Amino acid sequence: MMVEAENLVKIYKGNIKAVDGIDLKIGKGEIYGFLGPNGAGKTTTVKILTTLLKPTSGTARINGMDVVKEQERVRRIIGLVPQDLSVDDDLKGIENLELQANFYGIRKDEARRKAYELLELVDLYHAKDRYVSTYSGGMRKRLDLISGLIHEPEVLFLDEPTLGLDVQTRTRMWEYIERLRKDLGITIFITTHYLEEADRLCDRIGIIDRGRIMVEGRPEELKRSVGFDVIYILADDPEPLKRYLEGAVNVEILEDRTLRFSIKNSEEYIPDLLQKIYQAGIKVKRISIQKPSLDTVFLKYTGREMREEESREDVMRTMRSIRRAR
Ligand SMILES: Nc1ncnc2c1ncn2[C@@H]1O[C@H](COP(=O)(O)OP(=O)(O)O)[C@@H](O)[C@H]1O
Ligand SMILES: [Mg+2]
Repeated sequence: MMVEAENLVKIYKGNIKAVDGIDLKIGKGEIYGFLGPNGAGKTTTVKILTTLLKPTSGTARINGMDVVKEQERVRRIIGLVPQDLSVDDDLKGIENLELQANFYGIRKDEARRKAYELLELVDLYHAKDRYVSTYSGGMRKRLDLISGLIHEPEVLFLDEPTLGLDVQTRTRMWEYIERLRKDLGITIFITTHYLEEADRLCDRIGIIDRGRIMVEGRPEELKRSVGFDVIYILADDPEPLKRYLEGAVNVEILEDRTLRFSIKNSEEYIPDLLQKIYQAGIKVKRISIQKPSLDTVFLKYTGREMREEESREDVMRTMRSIRRAR
């Protein structure tokens, strides 16, 4: 196992239980996602796993090495990209990487070779001699991403690597992160509160809420565990269709005459159903299948909606920026 934790607990001063008994087992080469709302305990867990914070109780190991007892050895094989930007605006791209390399005691020529390779990997080679203050938000994030890699770690920790980026830039970041795994073969631990990010990028997800992992699994598996797909069928006359919906639940004709129902294994169910409908001479105009999303998964296991948290946070951010602008 590359990352292992047993019953990790962190209680901050003031009796705040930020992490409340977390177990982890992450294999080599995996992209593991910690998905949870603000304050769930993601950053605290990352800080413990990266030796920056001691757990109140419990143990954690990186590639078999204890994060408390073998701190120095652990630090050599991990990379961390913290939640807040870590690169220096007043330095050039290449200088930032060389600074990192120096910190790790890497020889100058070796550092430069590695830096160029990483810059190429995230399409920043062309901007290596520019000051970071001239970079776009996406470029900074990419530099951030590789600054945690100069010492060739085996595990990379990314704490909300796409926080605040626009949707398009975020999608590109996912491609770069996937590329890192593919080209460097590293294990990646990523925290996020973006459902799409966890869904699209991670091999496995742990949904974390109030310091606990509520459920863990592959995105597909988690979505399937919710149970049903929702099907919408638009036909001239939906009424006679009802007769063919064997095994379907929540069958309903909506106001716009669309027939809606829920069914397990819709991939197998729908072709059969269509066959029967055509044979009966009924014409279907439109059909759509809504697969369960991580939203529904989050709701099922935490009893709360993740989107609410997300939108509330967006509102807060907007309000802050309005206040600043005044
Ligand atoms: N240094 C600290 N002292 C006291 N409480 C903290 C500290 N850091 C975080 N917390 C609290 O611990 C909880 C988890 O925080 P954090 O790990 O930052 O969550 P996340 O990264 O998921 O947003 C929150 O309630 C937060 O307010
Ligand atoms: Mg955090």
